[in-house]
Amino acid sequence: MFPEIRPRRLRRTPALRRLVEENRLSPAELVLPLFVKEGLIEPKPISSMPGVVQHSRESLRKAAHEAVSAGVGGLMLYGVPTDDHKDETGSAGLDPAGILNVGIQDLVAEVGDSTVIMSDLCLDEFTSHGHCGVLAADGSVDNDATLALYAELGVAQAAAGAHMVGTSGMMDGQVGVVRRALDKAGYQDVSVLAYSAKYAGAFYGPFREAVQSSLKGDRRQYQQDPPNFREALREVDLDVAEGADIVMVKPALAYLDVIAAVRERVDVPVAAYQVSGEYAMIEAAAANGWIDRERAILESLTSIKRAGSQITLTYWATEVAQLLHRF
Ligand code: PBG
Repeated sequence: MFPEIRPRRLRRTPALRRLVEENRLSPAELVLPLFVKEGLIEPKPISSMPGVVQHSRESLRKAAHEAVSAGVGGLMLYGVPTDDHKDETGSAGLDPAGILNVGIQDLVAEVGDSTVIMSDLCLDEFTSHGHCGVLAADGSVDNDATLALYAELGVAQAAAGAHMVGTSGMMDGQVGVVRRALDKAGYQDVSVLAYSAKYAGAFYGPFREAVQSSLKGDRRQYQQDPPNFREALREVDLDVAEGADIVMVKPALAYLDVIAAVRERVDVPVAAYQVSGEYAMIEAAAANGWIDRERAILESLTSIKRAGSQITLTYWATEVAQLLHRF
């Protein structure tokens, strides 16, 4: 009899397939990014991310509650100030009454310790030029001047009640500077989620609409170049050495090789960010009837997990968490 060995045996019924499934998503590993916009009365749809909105402070609380009820593991908050609150140095980020900091407080009041409250530690949402840092005289982003502001941002977010800050600006030394500032201010227990390997790719397009970014150029002087792999490992090593509690690769689907290599290399938890463009691609194809939306969402998230992501940021977190309760 040939073949004697038949892998198909274990695929025959749903029960067999479930028994041998190697990777199974769970709500707790999903983190929901949320946008809160200053001055909104009603939530405002983001056209390039169908189903995602800029929240008012009130709708933010509702969305947080819904996510936590579904078992979502964490929330990542982005603040969107009004244009008149943007300036050269992004000072609205430091203001305790700035939209991100009050949004953090709202989340703490609504869901407290029942999930992990994370905040974006970056300046791009707050700067008039849209860059992730402050500009030097020649128009380039000044790394070290930006670090000093990141230190203050971290302390402001911790003071507002964030459990974890997400350093997403890709400045050299940002994790170390933020870690030291948090410790010095008495926030030793606030953790740092390091956006360690963050690539300057095309997949952040819809996010720019979500935060109404004023960026004209690009971020290639600080975010990584997509062809590079070894460089990502170097970034990750540096962040771990500087005290990162979790390291992240971003975007996810186009960088599964990087996720897998980082997972092999470090002992801290590894996260991945399924970014706005990844979301938009599936939503757009599904809206045209070209792919099965639910299956494509689950397959993409499962592939990110299979590559080695232990924690995944996704705009579908609540929906997927609810869906998983069916299985
Ligand atoms: C920077 C930041 C960005 C995203 C998360 N944090 C924008 C960028 O780097 O250009 C993108 C997230 C997404 O596209 O979903 N604060």
